Amino acid sequence: MTENRDQPAATRPAASGRRRLLGFLLGSSLLASLASFFYPILKFVLPPETTEMDADTVVAARADELAPNSGKIFRFGSKPGLLVRLSSGEYRALSATCTHLECTVQYRQREQDVWCACHNGVYDLQGRNRSGPPPRPLDAYDVHVRGDEVIVARHGHEHGRS
Ligand code: FES
Repeated sequence: MTENRDQPAATRPAASGRRRLLGFLLGSSLLASLASFFYPILKFVLPPETTEMDADTVVAARADELAPNSGKIFRFGSKPGLLVRLSSGEYRALSATCTHLECTVQYRQREQDVWCACHNGVYDLQGRNRSGPPPRPLDAYDVHVRGDEVIVARHGHEHGRS
């Protein structure tokens, strides 16, 4: 509080303004740092938006979106789904909810399997539980490519738009 005592009174508002500006800049950079830290986490945890055609059918990806030997998480109703494009170009779609304690599973390119990072559960590309604690297979879905859309449907459901 004594730092401005020796200065002429006319310069005090400028110093106060600089302090406010500095505080604003520090606050802004702190916010930007927090946003850059949490955004990738939120992107990983929350499945991306998808076009739902009805409760049992969803556009999970564009046809040109997935390279061979890759996978993506999509939203299927209130749950995440996993769409995998095999090295052959063929698609597989599975529930992405681990049957152990419901963590979200992911496709592993090197192992070409489905892996749950929570407790090292492993499934094959048909969704069958292979190792680790998962007690049951993942639900498997039908996949159809129509035009430039990759459509995922629960077994036995119509694949057309309603
Ligand atoms: S929640 Fe997936 S292995 Fe435990």
